[in-house]
Amino acid sequence: MTTTTPVLQVRDLRVEIGERTVLQSVSLDVQPGSLIVLMGANGSGKSTFGMALAGHPNYHVTAGQALLNGKDLVQLPAHERARAGFFLSFQSPPDIPGVKNNLFIRTALNAVRESRGETPLDAFDFLNSAKQGAKELGMPAAMLGRPVNEGFSGGERKRNELLQLTLLQPRVALLDEIDSGLDVDGVRAVVELVQRMRAQGTAFIVVSHYLQMIESLQPDQVLRLDQGRIAESGDLALARSIAETGFARANA
Ligand SMILES: Nc1ncnc2c1ncn2[C@@H]1O[C@H](COP(=O)(O)OP(=O)(O)OP(=O)(O)O)[C@@H](O)[C@H]1O
Ligand SMILES: [Mg+2]
Repeated sequence: MTTTTPVLQVRDLRVEIGERTVLQSVSLDVQPGSLIVLMGANGSGKSTFGMALAGHPNYHVTAGQALLNGKDLVQLPAHERARAGFFLSFQSPPDIPGVKNNLFIRTALNAVRESRGETPLDAFDFLNSAKQGAKELGMPAAMLGRPVNEGFSGGERKRNELLQLTLLQPRVALLDEIDSGLDVDGVRAVVELVQRMRAQGTAFIVVSHYLQMIESLQPDQVLRLDQGRIAESGDLALARSIAETGFARANA
């Protein structure tokens, strides 16, 4: 085990949606540059965990903390969580009709850059790096000029999430089923991008149901969420045993 200070410490997080407590008490530590795979049956609360950390208003954190470099995300508005270095890639990325993709991403990037004490990128410099990023992800540059995700295919939406990830350079990124909808080249691009960003210190929490993807990500840790808690913690062997026996049998 490494002895570095975790970049993210989640402590006894309880999350309610409406009347329902979806997460009872979730605790985990994320080391800089590490990768944790979060598994769990459909409806076990994996996306809820991501939405709660990102600050979606329907997901109420009623107890616990999520300390990113010592700063409790739970106490911050959503945009301050992003500025603190948290990034969520949505399981189902929403459309934002009427808002151009390049303006959306540049605005987000410059807000994050400001919090890091960096100068804002002008339209020209931004477009150059966005086009380069899009090219690496196999995304046509024309998608930068369209409204955010409007009319994008499932895989194009996921690639657009990855473009934001690569430009924003967060400290901790939670990728919620990034592999669903991506073609084989897209999955390869994710694995390469994650590897590159981990080497630069970004930590990842990756939600996935697919063993092949999980194996190629070379996780440091695999966690299984059940009944609103981390029910099991292990390495790739845990992911392999879940793939073999299923969640229903794991809970039996
Ligand atoms: N707005 C809502 N009102 C009531 N229940 C909700 C609401 N949003 C989510 N839930 C419930 O919370 C539970 C957790 O959902 P969540 O999306 O976090 O599951 P998940 O682990 O991501 O599942 P999947 O693998 O299918 O993506 C589910 O039972 C879901 O129906
Ligand atoms: Mg989900």
